[in-house]
Amino acid sequence: MFGSKKEVIGIDIGASAVKLVQLKEAKGQFQLLAMDREPLPPEAVVDNSIMDSGAVVDAIRSLVERNRIKVQDVAISVSGHSVIIRKISMAQMTEEELEQSIQWEAEQYIPFEMTDVFLDYYILGTDPADPAQMEVMLVAAKKDFVDEYVSVIRESGLNPVVVDIDFFAVENIYCSLYGEESLNVVALIDMGASGIQVNILKDGVSFFTREIQLGGNNYNEELQKKFGINSQDAETVKLGGTLAGIDPQLALDAMRVVSSSLVQEVRRSIDFFSATSADEQVQKVYITGGVALTTNLLEELQQGLELPVEILDPFSRMQVSEKSFDLDFVKSVAPFFSVAAGLATRKVGDKL
Ligand SMILES: Nc1ncnc2c1ncn2[C@@H]1O[C@H](COP(=O)(O)OP(=O)(O)OP(=O)(O)O)[C@@H](O)[C@H]1O
Ligand SMILES: [Mg+2]
Repeated sequence: MFGSKKEVIGIDIGASAVKLVQLKEAKGQFQLLAMDREPLPPEAVVDNSIMDSGAVVDAIRSLVERNRIKVQDVAISVSGHSVIIRKISMAQMTEEELEQSIQWEAEQYIPFEMTDVFLDYYILGTDPADPAQMEVMLVAAKKDFVDEYVSVIRESGLNPVVVDIDFFAVENIYCSLYGEESLNVVALIDMGASGIQVNILKDGVSFFTREIQLGGNNYNEELQKKFGINSQDAETVKLGGTLAGIDPQLALDAMRVVSSSLVQEVRRSIDFFSATSADEQVQKVYITGGVALTTNLLEELQQGLELPVEILDPFSRMQVSEKSFDLDFVKSVAPFFSVAAGLATRKVGDKL
């Protein structure tokens, strides 16, 4: 077929909100057509599982209507316990040989029946520990888990055409924006309400992924405990709002406790990567997701990791029309949209 492939909208179903992004690619640059998010009730998505599909469908429908989206093809992504990403080492072989043997090989590493998962993989290169071996990244997602996500998209009247993994969606947007000038080794860290996802790229390819069960919700819990307030009030305080009887300085102190554990966990992941890869050191860290906006967190990460840290803004190098968008607003909420923007760069017919 000639011409470019059909565009899709990116929909990121997160623990706290559904995010939608629509892009258009022209002359090698992306133009932002739509970006919006709709909050979800607290119990709608728990541990990455869709508990209240009606609430998620309602959120998706509101986004589609509000933004007058006509495109029906959607790229979504999944993450969590039902997604396994594992680096394995196996004898050097050609791509064809690997294709033949990957199912059997994967069986030893994937804790699910092979008939129950979608499997994907890519070759990373020669194993630094043994030149006769090569490293391969296995990616498996449980079919019934993926189906939960696919179903809510269908119930919303849309057509799911690409299913990605959250890690790779962020990687996609990073590579399409910064790919050419990227440093050798960077860590992309998506910090959401329910957890943190660390993805370390070497020359634009994911070499290490880790999920940390610590996220935006932990700040709320800490503030609730400290001040005896409910989750909603904790959210207000967390975002810098004022609440009678709460000393802002004490609130910041409570938040620092969570930030410290978060920094420590991220540091542990980066140290683990360094210890297990040949002379490779992370050169720069990009943070994204709503939690990246937490007061002082960037500075604390910078200090704790002893590395440069920057906020990844998925729209920073896109064409964003002043006529359609309030540019300051787009900038202020951009980190929420990295997954959805990465998904929106995909095309109909892209591999799952
Ligand atoms: N200015 C801010 N300061 C601190 N935290 C913030 C700020 N803005 C948003 N957050 C937090 O960011 C989180 C939402 O971010 P995001 O939309 O990236 O998460 P999510 O995708 O819904 O969750 P997950 O990725 O875990 O499924 C919430 O916990 C919210 O309280
Ligand atoms: Mg998220």
